[in-house]
Amino acid sequence: MIQLSKLKAFIFDLDGVITDTAEYHFLAWKALAEDLNISFTRELNEELKGISRMDSLEKILQFGGKEQEFSEQEKLELATKKNEHYVELINKITPSDILPGIEKLLRDIKQANLEIALASASKNANMVLEALKLKDQFDYIVDVTKIKKGKPDPEIFLKAAELLKVDPSSCVGVEDAIAGVEAIKSAGMYAVAVGPKSSFQKADLVYETTEALSFKEIKERFEE
Ligand code: BG6
Ligand code: MG
Repeated sequence: MIQLSKLKAFIFDLDGVITDTAEYHFLAWKALAEDLNISFTRELNEELKGISRMDSLEKILQFGGKEQEFSEQEKLELATKKNEHYVELINKITPSDILPGIEKLLRDIKQANLEIALASASKNANMVLEALKLKDQFDYIVDVTKIKKGKPDPEIFLKAAELLKVDPSSCVGVEDAIAGVEAIKSAGMYAVAVGPKSSFQKADLVYETTEALSFKEIKERFEE
């Protein structure tokens, strides 16, 4: 069999993959939505995963039929309020909050001499990685403030590959968001999803939990 590309790098999402901050984003958005008399469901929350702060707010306001009720300044204030609550919730993060299986996966990737980058939509990503004491494990962390188009656009994953100086086809992307998996596939990368199989038809490989992630299996399947 002709091997088209060699596996060279892993590009990770943060929230919901490295640590369970996805739950804190949910709680902070839910509190804000309830303040605005918008009922916030886990189903709607799934659509917000991977989506930037301001785009998430827009989706919540649309869901509640209140997209015309706030000025741009007021929307910024609402987003700031959610973020302050979120930062309060993540304040107590320690390395014990790294999701099961992640440290081993990062170790296995490094042992195989592959590169690791972070492609998170979160402006709090550096703070979270520092709290987890994982920053040193990453060769590059994409600066999301320089990214013009959010997931599902592939820009953030393509930027990570560019920083790592590897071809996108040599990269594995790891995501827990539907928008994130779409971004990985549009970037021409191999997509590993973490979550229920039924949600990720577009992924190349799906693991129900981070604990099940296996470097050996991902590498073998990538090279098939
Ligand atoms: C993504 C999360 O990683 O970051 C989204 O999945 C979140 O839920 C987005 O909205 C932006 O995060 P932040 O920390 O910049 O508000
Ligand atoms: Mg995520």
